[in-house]
Amino acid sequence: MDKLEVAIFPVGGVGTRFLPATKNMPKEMMPLLNRPLIQWGVEEAVNSGCTNVIIVTGEGKEAIKAHFSRSFELEAFLTAHGKEKYREIVSSIPALARFSFAKQPQPLGLGHAVLCAERLCKERPFALLLPDDVMLADKPVTAQLEAVRQKYGGSAIALQKVSDEDTQRYGVVDAEEIEPGVYKIKSLVEKPKAGTAPSNFAVMGRYVLSPAIFRYLRSLQPGAGGEYQLTDAINAMLAEEPAYGVIYEGKRLDCGITEGWLKANLQLALHDTGMREAALEVLKEENII
Ligand code: UTP
Repeated sequence: MDKLEVAIFPVGGVGTRFLPATKNMPKEMMPLLNRPLIQWGVEEAVNSGCTNVIIVTGEGKEAIKAHFSRSFELEAFLTAHGKEKYREIVSSIPALARFSFAKQPQPLGLGHAVLCAERLCKERPFALLLPDDVMLADKPVTAQLEAVRQKYGGSAIALQKVSDEDTQRYGVVDAEEIEPGVYKIKSLVEKPKAGTAPSNFAVMGRYVLSPAIFRYLRSLQPGAGGEYQLTDAINAMLAEEPAYGVIYEGKRLDCGITEGWLKANLQLALHDTGMREAALEVLKEENII
């Protein structure tokens, strides 16, 4: 079976839930501690064996391309001012992987964004990471999915059990357990109406997909919310190839909404040796602890 080498990051969305912060700045560049959200995802992909990163950008996302490119002026400035530690940090970012960029002309949905990466991805399996879901795990979640794909073939998708009320926010699977934590998917539905979800297993922002998906993305019709839904393409692909849902081991930080992003920063700060004191100080000042 082909080794996993490629990771795709769709960043063509508008980020409405983060306005006004995202009026002129990509949501994926919001900092989580001292790194932008997307860098956490890129590091996960690299730690899962990916060497090629394809970023699908949209309007106003130039800062993302700049972040993963060399910054010679900044590097020279840091060297000239004796800030070698920071120079090393800055120059290590473009060295994480081989980066390439595709453009999504309009934010027509996640399925459409992935299709925009087809030419760069070629006929290779790929990891797909949504950067606003940050995953903390001993073994990277993408690597956990790839292990299942290597064992069973097809595609692998990250699942998390959610409450009945929350199923309507996600793609939800109808699936059968084939080993503890691994489910063979029978079908998927995007954002099912309350009370109609086939299970409580929701799709989270990590996938390892077979290149067969591109054929189904090309013939996709607009689905839930009028968007081209990746979920619909995966559903159609199931007639040809299997897909497996994996209850991953780790913790997901939902950084796609302001409250989740704030919680993630506080939580990580409390576990970070350099930042813990500052986080505790605020809690003490506010008489919370
Ligand atoms: P979201 O559903 O969070 O959409 O997309 P969004 O536009 O970023 O944010 P809201 O809903 O307006 O607040 C999940 C991921 O898919 C990408 C987004 O950039 C984000 O990384 N995406 C979404 C695209 O690349 N293109 C699209 O057309 C839609």
